[in-house]
Amino acid sequence: MATIPTTQEQYRLVRAGAQGPFKLELVTAPVREPGPDEVLVKVHAASLNRRDVFVMKGQYPVGPRESLVPLSDGTGEVVAVGPHVTRFRVGDRVAAIFFQSWLNGRPSPQFLDSALGGQLDGMLTQYITLNQQGLVKLPANLTYEQGATLPCAGVTAWNGLFTRGHMQRGDTVLLEGTGGVSSFGLVFAVADGAKVIITSSSDAKLEEARKLGAFGTINYKKVPDWEKPVRELTGGIGVQEVLDVGGKDTLPHAIASLGFGGHIALIGGLGGFGGDVPVMALMTSNATVSGIYVGSRADFEAMDAFIEKHDVKPIVSRVIPFKDAKAAYELMESAFFGKIVIRM
Ligand SMILES: NC(=O)c1ccc[n+]([C@@H]2O[C@H](COP(=O)([O-])OP(=O)(O)OC[C@H]3O[C@@H](n4cnc5c(N)ncnc54)[C@H](OP(=O)(O)O)[C@@H]3O)[C@@H](O)[C@H]2O)c1
Repeated sequence: MATIPTTQEQYRLVRAGAQGPFKLELVTAPVREPGPDEVLVKVHAASLNRRDVFVMKGQYPVGPRESLVPLSDGTGEVVAVGPHVTRFRVGDRVAAIFFQSWLNGRPSPQFLDSALGGQLDGMLTQYITLNQQGLVKLPANLTYEQGATLPCAGVTAWNGLFTRGHMQRGDTVLLEGTGGVSSFGLVFAVADGAKVIITSSSDAKLEEARKLGAFGTINYKKVPDWEKPVRELTGGIGVQEVLDVGGKDTLPHAIASLGFGGHIALIGGLGGFGGDVPVMALMTSNATVSGIYVGSRADFEAMDAFIEKHDVKPIVSRVIPFKDAKAAYELMESAFFGKIVIRM
């Protein structure tokens, strides 16, 4: 059995007071022994989401915290378990779930207080002690680095397309941009036999998306009214599913791209959070619009089963060593396709 140290290296976001931007600092912290229902995980990989950039800038609700361990997403190996733990054994490969207390069913407002890397300390640490309920097994076909991309972006795309959406073989799915959530939309849709139309500001990334199975690609900078080519690509019918990450700027185009009875998963506000609701257009086309906030452990487990069955591989753009975690944050401002991962 691996020797468990009493201290570890850990990154903390630190700020003076309860508001404003944070600074990332490397600190020495204790390794906490697991309580009766807890599991001690040696973290092997973590990954960044756009949310983590917003958290660092003080633009995301984390409560009045002066310091926190960032990142919701990470994977590792179970190195110790408390006496009441039944879900895991030492040696298991696990991933943490985003909302530690949302296990299944409908979300409730209380779950918001259980988000890792926000209200609770997160995964940018060498060891983490979590309740056994807040972990899932890692799909057998994924490395720790690949698995570390799943908890936020993967589960969000899954929830949008499969739990709240009803993607089926032969459907056409519209994805906006080539970031984390959309890249999961791409690999899930292709694995499920759906057709993908994807937008990007970069022709090079659109070419990459084509190689990964997208059938329609549109540069949203060059073609601002991109609903027109979406309609053409679908023979005038429109798409059945949309993962909308742009919000205010993209939603009108997404609605204009939607086929009769289609579904839009409202996920992000990269282009702002305001906007009007076009009641008539949504109503007469029998559309469904869902607000999505990541998902539950049950979503995660259903996604894991799909990933194993179809040997789905998340798109990892870059892997950065733990000691260079600050560089990983800087890379979030660069042109990347998919996910940025930190290896411990
Ligand atoms: N509700 C939830 O549970 C949830 C979960 C995860 C993420 N989110 C939100 O969803 C959004 C995307 O998250 P992410 O982690 O996937 O981000 P990300 O990995 O940083 O992806 C950003 C990409 O989106 C594209 N993009 C940027 N601005 C755009 C715009 N105005 N219109 C269309 N595309 C645009 C760009 O793609 P190109 O470079 O190809 O142009 C950019 O590279 C963020 O707002 C995030 O906070 C919400």
